[in-house]
Amino acid sequence: MVEIFDAIKKSAVRIKWLIENEDSGYSQNINATGDTQLKLDIKTDLVIEEEFRKISSVKEIISEEKEEKTPIYEHGKYMVGYDPLDGSSLLDVNFSVGSIFGIYKGGYDGRHLVAAVYVIYGPVTQMVTAYEDVGMYKLNENNEFAFIKSLELKQSGLINATGGTHSNWSDEHKKMIEEIYSMGHRLRYSGGMVPDLHQILLKGGGLFSYPSTSDRPKGKLRMVFEVFPFAFIYEKAGGKAIDGKRRLLDLTPSHPHDTTPCFFGSEKEIETVLKYNE
Ligand code: AHG
Ligand code: MN
Ligand code: MN
Repeated sequence: MVEIFDAIKKSAVRIKWLIENEDSGYSQNINATGDTQLKLDIKTDLVIEEEFRKISSVKEIISEEKEEKTPIYEHGKYMVGYDPLDGSSLLDVNFSVGSIFGIYKGGYDGRHLVAAVYVIYGPVTQMVTAYEDVGMYKLNENNEFAFIKSLELKQSGLINATGGTHSNWSDEHKKMIEEIYSMGHRLRYSGGMVPDLHQILLKGGGLFSYPSTSDRPKGKLRMVFEVFPFAFIYEKAGGKAIDGKRRLLDLTPSHPHDTTPCFFGSEKEIETVLKYNE
């Protein structure tokens, strides 16, 4: 596991450089979920592949930006599902973006997830790892990640981060969000799941949701690369992660690019979500 975390750190240093120095425009390609790829989506994906190719404990990798799995070492133990550049459409407005990694052993579902990591490229670069516990690190002037602190969610918070097109929300979702506001929450949503979920973790609690909508009945966020890693991190930090009814980590995708509605947060907010999805 240490060598996988090291490969992620090396990738992060290179990706930070690419974000700061390379063209943030679109390419001509479309990825497996139908998004037009930015040139940086492609380049960051290749950086991560290159770093994992050096690690003998990696059996195979699968990226949000590639249709198929890439075999690495036949006798490797781990499979890594990753989103190389989450929130990449926010690069032009200079918002924070991130990389997300799920480290799986034996299958790409919640039961086989053994660790999860994300990196956030903001005013500073930070990394959050969940293995035995949840720890935050900061990239220093020597390009090393220094441990800052452990992260834990409170029973409830004051942040509401809610995605999707509002006019396509269900009535139940609208009512649920109203109840969250009536509990005293404020809207804090950048449109990048890494900074949005990072904010809730660091500020102690709240709710992030990407529900089922009339245009996207199965939500937008992808289980293997985005949803499961964050569900793992939130649960390890003492929070909850559900699809509205069920625990996200109990879901099994039938295809690596499958999406699901998802709600991440502290206990009290998730109780409210459950009430509207009975
Ligand atoms: P990606 O850039 O990897 O395609 O993912 C973007 C995701 C996620 O970061 C964010 O939570 C969500 O898209 C925002 O979607 P909406 O603009 O529909 O709320
Ligand atoms: Mn993404
Ligand atoms: Mn992405």
